[in-house]
Amino acid sequence: MLIINSTKALQKWRLEQDNKTIGFVPTMGYLHDGHMSLIKTAKLQTDLVVVSIFVNPLQFGANEDLDNYPQNLENDISICKSHGVDLIFTPNANEIYSNGYPPKTTVHVELLGDHLCGAKRTGHFDGVCTVVTKLFNLVRPNMAFFGQKDIQQLRIIETIVKELNMPIDIIPCKTQRTHDGLALSSRNSYLSVAEERSALIVPNVLNHLVSLIKKGETDINTLITDGISLIRKTPNAKADYLEIVDYDTLQPVHTINGKIIIATAIFIGSTRLIDNIIWGD
Ligand code: PAF
Repeated sequence: MLIINSTKALQKWRLEQDNKTIGFVPTMGYLHDGHMSLIKTAKLQTDLVVVSIFVNPLQFGANEDLDNYPQNLENDISICKSHGVDLIFTPNANEIYSNGYPPKTTVHVELLGDHLCGAKRTGHFDGVCTVVTKLFNLVRPNMAFFGQKDIQQLRIIETIVKELNMPIDIIPCKTQRTHDGLALSSRNSYLSVAEERSALIVPNVLNHLVSLIKKGETDINTLITDGISLIRKTPNAKADYLEIVDYDTLQPVHTINGKIIIATAIFIGSTRLIDNIIWGD
């Protein structure tokens, strides 16, 4: 397994692999079973798998957890090695933003970032889109693998690839969960034991709304009000948002109809966790 931290070395390696298909798993490190399932899926579908590990400062707001974001490069390297990853790209911020920081060129997708996390984390998706575009240009993958836990990120990246004519297949991968339903996230490592119990409200509130929809509830206000009151009753929990949006446009829906996303971000103590359920067709 190669470990490369310079963009020049990565581009040189890529030129040498022109007859191979490349699967790409972009990450911010602190790898868990969710990342491993992306790597396993990539291994099955492509000749060579590249994993990037880069905590991208451009996608963090001023009051967010950039400085505390969990890191364990040694463990990440051993996970990648044991899963047959061919190359890890671990640049630092100077390497990625070698032309100056903040960059003069950024990537912005209209509309899809207006709600959900985009409304709460100003500039977040521009940071994600910019770094993912740079990584795509460097790695030039045939396929890139993204978890559905970050559904807004996934939908936005699908849009970039489509609208900027990038020859990359974006492969959505199912959210990986603990046995009691909590979506795997590097940020789960911030939770105390008591907070871990409270964190189950994140999947539970989504499942609760699905059960109401299955019983025939179609009124969005009723669903959201019910969900918010469930979150309020949970110790350590504070809703950042609970929204129901259209799958294609990520705009709020007025009734339950077609393919929708029920999505939430909830602070458990000071840890912000996100999750979603895709519903309908
Ligand atoms: O999902 C993540 O870990 C990050 O947003 C990504 C896609 C690696 C970009 O920094």
